Amino acid sequence: MLEKKPIIFLLLATVTILIGTVVTMVAPFWWINDPKLAIASVKPYTPLQLEGRDIYIREGCNNCHTQTVRPLLSDTERYGEYSKSGEFAYDQPFLWGSRRTGPDLARIGGKYPDAWHVKHMKDPQSMVPRSNMPRYDFLQRPLDTSLTERKMKTLKFPYTQDQIAQLSGKTEMDAMVAYLQKLGNDIPWRKAARAEVVGELKNPYQDNMAVLPEAKALYQQNCAQCHGKELKGDVGPALSDLDKPDADVFTTVYGGTQAGMPAFGDTLGKERIWKLVTFLKSHQKR
Ligand code: HEC
Ligand code: HEC
Repeated sequence: MLEKKPIIFLLLATVTILIGTVVTMVAPFWWINDPKLAIASVKPYTPLQLEGRDIYIREGCNNCHTQTVRPLLSDTERYGEYSKSGEFAYDQPFLWGSRRTGPDLARIGGKYPDAWHVKHMKDPQSMVPRSNMPRYDFLQRPLDTSLTERKMKTLKFPYTQDQIAQLSGKTEMDAMVAYLQKLGNDIPWRKAARAEVVGELKNPYQDNMAVLPEAKALYQQNCAQCHGKELKGDVGPALSDLDKPDADVFTTVYGGTQAGMPAFGDTLGKERIWKLVTFLKSHQKR
């Protein structure tokens, strides 16, 4: 039989493996450069964003964070629409990563205000008490811009002299935040990651003071980092005198806003959000 003829067996085995290689390696390279897969709204990095990306690589953030939403229910439920190749058209090299000690960052852009990122990078535990992310407060040193222009040229990204000039005085932190805010922010389905409010908007706990202790604990856990322990405001606005209908407050907390209020619909659910609304409204000065 075949295995008794070593030369022919070797040749056939090589051919089989080669076909496998071509199909799984070469063909995708070909598809990935197909202009039909490009996403028009995805733009190249600006000089500041590109420097941030290089710091991200230097610090090895990709050892703990992925940048790709896999086509699995567990991923799409949490991060929205799965990643398409066109989203990474300007990533050379891509930073998909393979470990998720921290959450995926492919869609982090626009999820939080800049000030949240600065505080979180300086001291992650101040924003997320149980975080095991290291501190990056040293990023507040000046940004080295000596190679920026050459990097932009090498990658063939468009830039203006004005953009290069504006880099003077920037810190590594500025670059990092600019990079994080770009991630996933220019894809059309970005908004799909935000929860939609469904059902009737009537507070089942209106004036029900019994829910206040639970709601207060929820507030301290989920909201105080941005709105302050005493509701006086910090990264987010003060909530101590909300003069808005319950339904509006609910919608903001459930679905988030473009200006940096994260959506809590998926993590807290309707009941707990109504309790929080009751808690916030109980502070309103009448
Ligand atoms: C040791 C692993 C580790 C490293 C290294 C690390 N992180 Fe994190 N990161 C985490 C964990 C865990 C969380 C979730 C808790 C939190 O928000 O702090 C997180 C959260 C984040 C978040 C918030 C994500 C969200 O959706 O709320 C951002 C942004 C972030 N990291 C950026 C970075 C950047 C930038 C670097 C590199 C400078 C970095 N991380 C390095 C573990 C890590
Ligand atoms: C990452 C920081 C952050 C966290 C965490 C956060 N918020 Fe916000 N919140 C903001 C920002 C920023 C705004 C302003 C958004 C805007 O102007 O669109 C805001 C706005 C709001 C508003 C609207 C205020 C107004 O005057 O209209 C409400 C209500 C609110 N947040 C409630 C909450 C509640 C309840 C929680 C906890 C479940 C929470 N927030 C957690 C950042 C945060």
